[in-house]
Amino acid sequence: MPQQDYFVHSSSIVDNNVSINDNTKVWHFSHILSGSKIGKNCSFGQNCVVGPNVTIGNGVKVQNNVSVYEGVEIEDDVFLGPSMVFTNVFNPRAFIVRKEEYRKTILKKGSSVGANATIICGITIGEYALIGSGAVINKDVKPFSLMVGVPAKQIGWVSLAGNTLAFNDKDEATDVFDNTSYKIINNQLELLS
Ligand SMILES: CC(C)(COP(=O)(O)OP(=O)(O)OC[C@H]1O[C@@H](n2cnc3c(N)ncnc32)[C@H](O)[C@@H]1OP(=O)(O)O)[C@@H](O)C(=O)NCCC(=O)NCCS
Repeated sequence: MPQQDYFVHSSSIVDNNVSINDNTKVWHFSHILSGSKIGKNCSFGQNCVVGPNVTIGNGVKVQNNVSVYEGVEIEDDVFLGPSMVFTNVFNPRAFIVRKEEYRKTILKKGSSVGANATIICGITIGEYALIGSGAVINKDVKPFSLMVGVPAKQIGWVSLAGNTLAFNDKDEATDVFDNTSYKIINNQLELLS
């Protein structure tokens, strides 16, 4: 068995049956629950909770005060802003156990969630979408879309690098940050090059 090279601060707790991969860092007062699998090059800030049974990809950045509950799936390179909130029960009651009714929430590769946003369970956030701070997401989010407000609405499109795109009259745009170019086709953003 190769030795995994990751860091967990002494104030944090990692339960049994957890896998954490190389170069991942878990900072202060966090808890990784049983059955969770965390990729490489991730970081978890202060006061984070993961699991049970949550899968997180590689290169994921989780800021302070985020709980990633069972039913949430996080792909590679996702950013979770400080104090953003996941949910896993759609219609909670203290006096009814709804563990069998968790709705799955998926954050696709490269997507970002701003500070203090809330994600209602059962939705998918598409690749490289960007959720503004304080938004409430209650519907599926298209890849590369920029969402703000309560409930969140799409106000634009963002590039791979998370920059808001400005389009010409052919519905094409380029991000000067990395020269990637895009086109809106059938109300979806296509990455051209
Ligand atoms: C959405 C965001 C990326 C800005 O994108 P942008 O394309 O530059 O948008 P603009 O600032 O030009 O704003 C466009 C409109 O959306 C509104 N808006 C921007 N951010 C908003 C938000 N988070 N919630 C509600 N409305 C917002 C603006 O007021 C503006 O409205 P108007 O046209 O009526 O004046 C940014 O405001 C944001 O929320 N970033 C997330 C920051 C964060 O949480 N980081 C976490 C790590 S520290």
